[in-house]
Amino acid sequence: MAKTINNQQSTILITGGAGFIGSHVVRHFAQKYPHHKIVNLDALTYAGNLENLRDVEPSPNYFFEKGDIRDAVFLKNLFEKHQPDSVIHLAAESHVDRSIANPLAFVETNVLGTVTLLNAARDSWARGNSSRQPDFEGKRFYHVSTDEVYGSLGEEGYFTEETRYDPRSPYSASKAASDHFVRAYFHTYGLPVVLSNCSNNYGPNHFPEKLIPLVINNIRQGKSLPVYGDGQYTRDWLWVKDHAAAIDTIFHQGRDGETYNIGGNNEWKNIDLVRKLCDIMDELLGQPVGTSQSLITFVKDRPGHDRRYAIDASKLKNELGWEPTVKSEEGFRETAKWYLENEAWLAHVLSGEYQRYYEQQYR
Ligand SMILES: NC(=O)c1ccc[n+]([C@@H]2O[C@H](COP(=O)([O-])OP(=O)(O)OC[C@H]3O[C@@H](n4cnc5c(N)ncnc54)[C@H](O)[C@@H]3O)[C@@H](O)[C@H]2O)c1
Repeated sequence: MAKTINNQQSTILITGGAGFIGSHVVRHFAQKYPHHKIVNLDALTYAGNLENLRDVEPSPNYFFEKGDIRDAVFLKNLFEKHQPDSVIHLAAESHVDRSIANPLAFVETNVLGTVTLLNAARDSWARGNSSRQPDFEGKRFYHVSTDEVYGSLGEEGYFTEETRYDPRSPYSASKAASDHFVRAYFHTYGLPVVLSNCSNNYGPNHFPEKLIPLVINNIRQGKSLPVYGDGQYTRDWLWVKDHAAAIDTIFHQGRDGETYNIGGNNEWKNIDLVRKLCDIMDELLGQPVGTSQSLITFVKDRPGHDRRYAIDASKLKNELGWEPTVKSEEGFRETAKWYLENEAWLAHVLSGEYQRYYEQQYR
């Protein structure tokens, strides 16, 4: 049965809203649904940055709460204070390289944090419900996940919602575990959940440790452009605002207990993507073509590196009518321009704890 989330004033708790994708989701919902109250819960780790949301902060329907999804007491109080009708859960440790260096941090936030949040939602929504099987009418727990849970593809084929889970990195293993817990809460407690598994996102506010912003910013600074292994690793890239729109569609129209794959129909081999970004940057910086490509440096491969990810998003298109709107050429150019125009943001995120990690990894 199609689920319709009540469009009368409801309160949506968005976790991880100060991060890359979360900030676009918060902006999308706060602006498109002024009658909804949007509560952004974020621990402001190295990846969370309230500068991402300066334009949203004055909105009367927007609220920020600093806190940790691993903290059950904090969550209980937060649910009591704001009484959210639904949760869109994005908070996570999200960088594969970091998960290789410190897997436990990923288990703590992505697995334990998600289960702690599920408990908080279930207990808060079940409270005042006398029956043994609580009625979660009008409630929704939306879990945002990644296509990396499906493992790695060869040259052919696509991940569908039926593809067997086969995570290879500590990051994808932790996300896979969290997905399983979310589904277990649907089957065990009847919690109305919905999930999506999305391909790689790109766009403004992306942390400069991820490939696209890393390349753009290293070109800006004349630094080398590290490309793992032979550069033939393939990823599907989705414009982050298209992801926010897909989340909106699934949040409002997705069916309880279902999973929807989200993809960009936009596969790139890493080396081709890096060369494309080099050409765009040469043009934007007024440099001779080929200047930036001379910075490309092949570096030692990432352990357990998945060869190819590609998404079959036909379920989302056929059932709910969502499709990506932004073509890669346009999106890559917009992203490059955004980084050139937002040096203050960059200077901020490239300081402190992040700076130390970045220098260690990429110098
Ligand atoms: N980036 C991608 O390409 C991509 C693709 C598919 C799915 N996802 C998923 O989307 C979500 C967001 O990804 P992102 O790239 O925006 O990540 P991000 O690292 O940019 O942001 C994560 C946010 O979560 C917050 N956070 C981390 N630990 C927390 C905790 N314990 N309590 C509260 N807040 C905490 C951080 O402060 C940050 O603001 C993640 O769940 C990720 O797995 C990302």
